[in-house]
Amino acid sequence: MTKRHGGSLAVFPGSFDPITNGHLDIVDRGLAVFDRVRMAILMNPEKQPLFSVQERVALIREAYRGNPRVEVDTFSGLLVDYAERVGASVIIRGIRAISDFEYEFQMALMNRRLNPQIETVFMMPAESYSYVSSRLVKEVFQLGGRVSDLVPPVVEKWLSEKYGTPIRAGRVRRKR
Ligand code: PNS
Repeated sequence: MTKRHGGSLAVFPGSFDPITNGHLDIVDRGLAVFDRVRMAILMNPEKQPLFSVQERVALIREAYRGNPRVEVDTFSGLLVDYAERVGASVIIRGIRAISDFEYEFQMALMNRRLNPQIETVFMMPAESYSYVSSRLVKEVFQLGGRVSDLVPPVVEKWLSEKYGTPIRAGRVRRKR
């Protein structure tokens, strides 16, 4: 018999290539408001990701091992159709800075037009993650920089395997 989970469900969509501590921060905030948060990875044939969709699913599963309130899935097509299909009435998106806002606002309004039953909720990560993005994490790691405070340990390990570069040890330099 298929186990059915109850309670409120929010979808947190994205590329998550790879997941960062900023994403985890948003998931934690989502869990304070909703019973379950489902991270939904867009399968986008137009993008050349570093991690395959299956790898990104595995990374998220590992980061949230033992937490049944965090789910992970993939989707293609319209996000609002996916949300409706899985019974979610809320889409969560993180806003790090004003520069994120314009694009997110457009998407939220377009999604509302496509399906007014689904509400977008914006959440702000901790200030310490306001500059963290998957793109910058990849770039910094590839160039030998330290990212251990910015991603879960499993992501750092897999970045090291992908790029064939060692994990940079040591402490973050503090500004004097
Ligand atoms: O992490 P990203 O790349 O900023 O996530 C973007 C994402 C996946 C949320 C967005 O591209 C999306 O929802 N795509 C699905 C297709 C869709 O519904 N497009 C219309 C959005 S208004």
